[in-house]
Amino acid sequence: MTRPPAPQLDLDPYLHDPDRWGVSLAQVSELMLPCLDAVGARRVVEVGAFAGDLTRVLVDWAARTGAGVQAIDPSPQPDLVALAEAREELELVQETSLAALPVIERPDAVILDGDHNYFTVSEELRLIAERAPGAELPLLMFHDVCWPHARRDDYFAAELIPEDFRQPVAGGGGGIVPGDPGLRTGGLPYPRSAAREGGPRNGVLTAVEDFVAAHDALRLVVVPAFFGFGVVWHRDAAWAPEVARILDPWDRNPLLERLEANRVHQLAQAHVRATEVRAARERQARQEAVLRRLLESSAFALAERLSRLRERAGVGTEHAVVSKAELRRALEG
Ligand SMILES: C[S@@+](CC[C@H](N)C(=O)[O-])C[C@H]1O[C@@H](n2cnc3c(N)ncnc32)[C@H](O)[C@@H]1O
Repeated sequence: MTRPPAPQLDLDPYLHDPDRWGVSLAQVSELMLPCLDAVGARRVVEVGAFAGDLTRVLVDWAARTGAGVQAIDPSPQPDLVALAEAREELELVQETSLAALPVIERPDAVILDGDHNYFTVSEELRLIAERAPGAELPLLMFHDVCWPHARRDDYFAAELIPEDFRQPVAGGGGGIVPGDPGLRTGGLPYPRSAAREGGPRNGVLTAVEDFVAAHDALRLVVVPAFFGFGVVWHRDAAWAPEVARILDPWDRNPLLERLEANRVHQLAQAHVRATEVRAARERQARQEAVLRRLLESSAFALAERLSRLRERAGVGTEHAVVSKAELRRALEG
């Protein structure tokens, strides 16, 4: 059977991502929307919507399909607020996920992209599954199931996380780079992330895997692109075979894994190098300031004259005389 071509997406995933890290889930729209179509979703919830980059894609999709979208975010950016005012398909719920999920209408699909830590994701999943056990479970989609938050918590508001579940955070103690479970000078700045990667109860993927292991007949797919797109569904859902057909080729695809590993490596290396360049520039500025003071100092002028006299007298000729002209040339270069 030939399928009608997918409509061209009106997509700008870098609208609020000027450094082009690829932080919005809008980057995986071409996979997400066919899954929503397969489910026949009428109500879609996006937990954590920020400036509405993915939300805009969802709202356009909802306008075509007659669905409704709810964006749950306690701190929406102004562009998301404006989008909610402009589009009738969108309702903005300005609450945390843990406050909103028990009281909203039951969704057909939920995108979890809010507070990226083990406790919050586990609780979000518990609240969703409590209201929709077994094959009624909505299609669940996740961001950040690959590096850096797969195995490393991040806390928007650490005080909301029970102490038992809270990892010590990085703070100003260094940044993170792939392959190093600790912190490193010049690494990517994630001051609200855990100081250490790995171990139990740490990270988004750990939470998703624990949830899948604790329930029967769930399937987990990890698409290793743009920090990791995860999908979970119940194998007995009527739409399960179609979702599997869409996602199977991407699940832990080794080529994509290499691409993503290379992408985050380059991202981190660029940051390490930029930090080194900044430090070198600051050192150079300090050295130049000293040289300029030397250039203007009468003591240096006197020392230069004395050195010339010694040179003429043939005393202490082992070192060439440092002159003001030479200093000027060095500063101009
Ligand atoms: C990574 S951004 C979301 C990006 C968006 N989904 C996209 O793909 O363009 C994370 C958002 O989660 C929100 N957030 C933080 N804690 C939350 C919570 N407990 N519940 C819901 N949203 C939360 C933040 O305010 C932020 O806007």
